[in-house]
Amino acid sequence: MPQTNPFHSLVPRKMTDSELARSIRLNIEAELDAINLYAAHLDATDNEEAKAILRHVMDEEREHASLFWQLIARLDPEQAQHDREASEKYRLITSGASHEAVEAVGKEGGSARAEVDVSPHKQLTVGNLRR
Ligand SMILES: [Fe+2]
Repeated sequence: MPQTNPFHSLVPRKMTDSELARSIRLNIEAELDAINLYAAHLDATDNEEAKAILRHVMDEEREHASLFWQLIARLDPEQAQHDREASEKYRLITSGASHEAVEAVGKEGGSARAEVDVSPHKQLTVGNLRR
């Protein structure tokens, strides 16, 4: 069974925060991989006892991934900035804002909270999503 080399990202000294962030990203990868593995095992069995254990452990991995993501935000200020902007970009994208409005978030002159025209003729429809 292939396993992650435990010395994959080790260096013979204490790591800088930047190096540690790189290592934590690998940890997040491992947590996400575990979530998918447990989800596949859940789908592959009707054993309710096993499913209960798998669900519990899978949820723990979700929590671990979230905690590591919070840690990344502390270790990598640029990632933290993207996190702050991503919520606003998400809101704009799902509200039908223009590409320009979305890309202006976080830029000089870009609104941190751009207004979106959500009048009926501007709402997302299957037709305008195709264009
Ligand atoms: Fe974990």
